[in-house]
Amino acid sequence: MTIHIGAKKEDIAETVLLPGDPYRAKWAAETFLEKPKLINEVRGMLGYTGDWKGNRVTIHGSGMGMPSLSIYVNELIKDYDAQTLIRIGSCGGMVEKVGIRDIIIAMSASSMSSMNKPIFKDLNFAPTANWDLLNSAAKAAEKRNSNVHIGNIFSSDVFYSEHSEIDEEMRRHNVLAVEMEAAELYTLAARYGRKALAVLTVSDHLITHEALPSEEREQSFGEMVEIALEAAFK
Ligand code: HPA
Repeated sequence: MTIHIGAKKEDIAETVLLPGDPYRAKWAAETFLEKPKLINEVRGMLGYTGDWKGNRVTIHGSGMGMPSLSIYVNELIKDYDAQTLIRIGSCGGMVEKVGIRDIIIAMSASSMSSMNKPIFKDLNFAPTANWDLLNSAAKAAEKRNSNVHIGNIFSSDVFYSEHSEIDEEMRRHNVLAVEMEAAELYTLAARYGRKALAVLTVSDHLITHEALPSEEREQSFGEMVEIALEAAFK
């Protein structure tokens, strides 16, 4: 048990999928895993462990934003020895070629976060995905004929941004989408020698202002969960 995770060490698998929303963890575990077992509910942050095609996997909420994800990922890595951590979540499309419902595989995650400034100081560290996971996820997405984009994303500290002029610079540099967690996940994985990836579904769009209707969310998110599971256990 840790401060934020009430599970026994053996209750958490080496491979952990991390949706932001704890109820999406419940939904994904009940939909995709055999014999899902609730292993955490501290602060309502639900986590489940079960089997997918004979492989043990934990699906655990990360909460919204990098400070929240950082708490869970630090504990999953340091106390539970998680080796492979894949974020599954939603993102906002930033460029025109990215459409609503498309899948984004984040090769790298830019940020303006001050979380790691005390470590990096003036260095613009580039948080990057694990190549094997990225490669496997790309193949899994291709096999399913998903509309997939692979590239740089922006991990924002704010959902309601007051600095849209920076969005234009990001578009000019082909930043595909915005979310709020991947940069910290990739930074922690780099620090502790673990494998990390973020597979995202475009749920809203910053240019067109479209948003995925709630009844369509489950189906679109299911595609992303399958890609993440196939990438983890290729
Ligand atoms: N901004 C930040 N995070 C998000 C968004 C967004 O538009 N959509 C889904 N996660």
